[in-house]
Order: sequence, then C-alpha cells, then structure tokens
Amino acid sequence: MLAAVYSVLLVFLSGVVYSRLTAESAAWEQPECIRRGTLFTARFILKMAADLVYLVTGGCGFLGEQIVELLTKEDHISEVRIFDTLESESVKAFATATKVTVIKGDITEYSQLLEAMKGVHVVVHTAALLDYLDLEPFWKMKSVNVGGTENVIEACCAQSVPYLLYTSSISALGPNAQLESMLRGTEDTKYNGEPVLPYGKTKAMAEKLVLKANGEQLANGNKLVTCVIRPSNIYGEKLKEIQNTYVATKARKGCLTSLEPEGVQNNFTYVGNVAWMHVLAARQLQLKPEVLGGQLYYSYDDTPVRQRCLLMRNLFLEVDPTVRLGSCVPYWKMCLFIHIHGLISFLVKPFRTIKPILTKQLLNVIVTSLSYETDKATRHFEYSPRYSWEETKSRVSQWLKSIKDN
Ligand SMILES: *[C@@H]1O[C@H](CO)[C@@H](O)[C@H](O)[C@H]1NC(C)=O
Repeated sequence: MLAAVYSVLLVFLSGVVYSRLTAESAAWEQPECIRRGTLFTARFILKMAADLVYLVTGGCGFLGEQIVELLTKEDHISEVRIFDTLESESVKAFATATKVTVIKGDITEYSQLLEAMKGVHVVVHTAALLDYLDLEPFWKMKSVNVGGTENVIEACCAQSVPYLLYTSSISALGPNAQLESMLRGTEDTKYNGEPVLPYGKTKAMAEKLVLKANGEQLANGNKLVTCVIRPSNIYGEKLKEIQNTYVATKARKGCLTSLEPEGVQNNFTYVGNVAWMHVLAARQLQLKPEVLGGQLYYSYDDTPVRQRCLLMRNLFLEVDPTVRLGSCVPYWKMCLFIHIHGLISFLVKPFRTIKPILTKQLLNVIVTSLSYETDKATRHFEYSPRYSWEETKSRVSQWLKSIKDN
C-alpha cells in the first residue's frame, strides 16, 4: 500500500521543486515625448522606435523564457537582456531583429544588478527561488525573493529605470493558516491572514515592496512606475511536474490519481498566456502609467478545468487516449503517508537523506480552493489570451511526444 501511495506522490511532486533565480538592470533616458506624456506621441514612439532595452530577471526559467521569446517579437524593442543564475544558451535562439543577451548573475548581488541595468528601459522581474517542500531554509528563500527584489528596486532607482513589472504568485495570497478558501474573488477581494507556505510569505513581502515603490524617485528625477502580475497554477511545456506525472501515469497503465477532493476549484493559466500578459502589461505600463501604476493583476485564459488531475488528463489525452482518472486518495491517507515518510527519513538519516515528496503544508494548499473571476487585465491593458485552450493542449502534447520519443 505504501508503495502505491508513494508512487502517487512521486507523480505529483517530483516536479514541484524548481528554482530559478535571476536579475538585471540599466540607466536610461526616456524618449522625449514619453517624458512629456502625450499618449498619442508615446504610442507613436513605441510603434516606431526600435530602441528599447528590456531586462528580464530569471529569463532562462520556465516562465522567463516564454517572456523573452514573446518580447523578441515586439518591434519597439532592440534588446532583451537576460539576468539569470543559469546561463542557458538556448534563449539566444529567440533572437530576431531584437538582440538577446545573457548575463550570468544573482539578484542578491546588488553590484551585479546595477551593472546589468545600465541603459535598460523596462525591468521584468521574474527571478525567484521557488521551493514548496521546505528543502531550502526560509532565510535563503527570503534573501533571494525579498532581498533580491529590494535590490532590483534600488537598482532601478539608481540607474533611473522607469518601469518595473514584478511576477508574484497566487501563493502570496494564500491559503492562510486556517485554510480558508476564496471562491470567485477578484483582485480586490479581502482575504485575511498570512500565506501558509514559506514561499508564499516571501512573495507577499516582495509584492508589497514593489507596489510601494510605485512613484518612488529615480536618480534622474523621474518617477518609478511599477505593477504586479499574480499568476496562479502556471502550466505548460517543460514543466517537470507534468512530465513526472505523465511518466507515473504510464507506469500505472494510464491511471491518473488525484489528491483533490471533488469540489476543489482552482484556476490554471497556460505559461504562454502568462508571458503574454507580461509583454502587454510592460508595454501599457509605459503608455498608461496612470492606469497600471501600483496595480495588481491575476492571470487568466480559457483553460476550462479547475483541478490539477483534470488538467493533466486533458493534456495527456492527446498523446495517449487511454489515460483515465483513478480515484482520489483520501486526505487522511496522504497525511498518514507523509507522517510515515517523515519517520522513515528520520530513522535512516544517519545513513542517507531522503527528500520529502510532499509536506502537510503543501497537501493543504492542494486541497484548498482559491478561485477568482476577473477581467482587470483586459480592461487595463487590453489583454486577451494569445493561445487558445486547443493550441495550449497541442503545444504541451507536442512536447510530451518529443520527450517520449527520446
Ligand atoms: C476560476 O474558477 C472559478 C471557479 O470555477 C470560475 O468561476 C472562474 O470563472 C475562473 N476564473 C477564470 C478567470 O477563469
């Protein structure tokens, strides 16, 4: 029995931990007409000028990479600069008429950021240390996610970078310690208490810093304009969790197991659409700073499912039509499993380290509903999904097929 539960968990979690960490920056003279602020002229400049430099922290990451790719298709951008602890060369393949440069650096190193931000007009800050399993100590996650963000803001001010877009996370909202659910909320819905996940706590702190920095004075006397995108449950090709779930499901003859009881409702957004939101928000932050400045936006698209197991099933069906849903593993069984697993790892600790594949906290997050209904991004920056649900499924299944064939 233990083996079975274990494999379910492995499905679910082996991909949950990934960490990405990045940052970058630069000083900049705004085009004259944007500074004067006439909307018409500003639009004109953004359409015509091809001289803006964007810096994407974490640009080699799961989301960052897609943001970089979409940015290179924008005709007003001359360079996309990536600041990341990883120095992935593959992003360079995205270069079009727009240059793509990669700077290896760490957002916790202020001097590196300061250097990288020279000549930058817009910073998209997606770099973070993501850990749902408590593998990283809290101080470390805090130093990257909060300290790093502090550095990004400070470097923006020092180098007079006027626009900063921050990628937060739904875990900055909750669930809280009481595991209250939010049903069909909006960006303005009050939801009390601290996020229960340490990662969420750090994202909440960083988010506050970024929103507070809106209107802050830059070295050249202009003002910083900031906004925040708070995506929930991003999925897409290259997500390890999907790959691991797929492999485990195949191993169980196509039977997909769920940890979510019926009735749990969460919203999922395709990574390409989250990236597209960033591109549009960054563009409109420059054109309509009075509308977007200091604002927070949830992510959305037309993904119709509200549960992880249903999402997985829909994604896998294109590759393997025999995939079916198994029964949901009851909450108490999972708790028992986590407990036993913890005990075993404690006992064998002198000989070897066993990584947890699920924690009670994370299980609680999975079984708690946080759902929302909003069109704020559409109203504020004319967002509509770039990829339809059909296209999304086909992109993910293409990727699954490609790893299956290898
Ligand atoms: C999120 O999920 C809720 C609950 O099913 C649904 O009513 C809402 O429309 C979804 N929101 C978006 C933006 O898709």
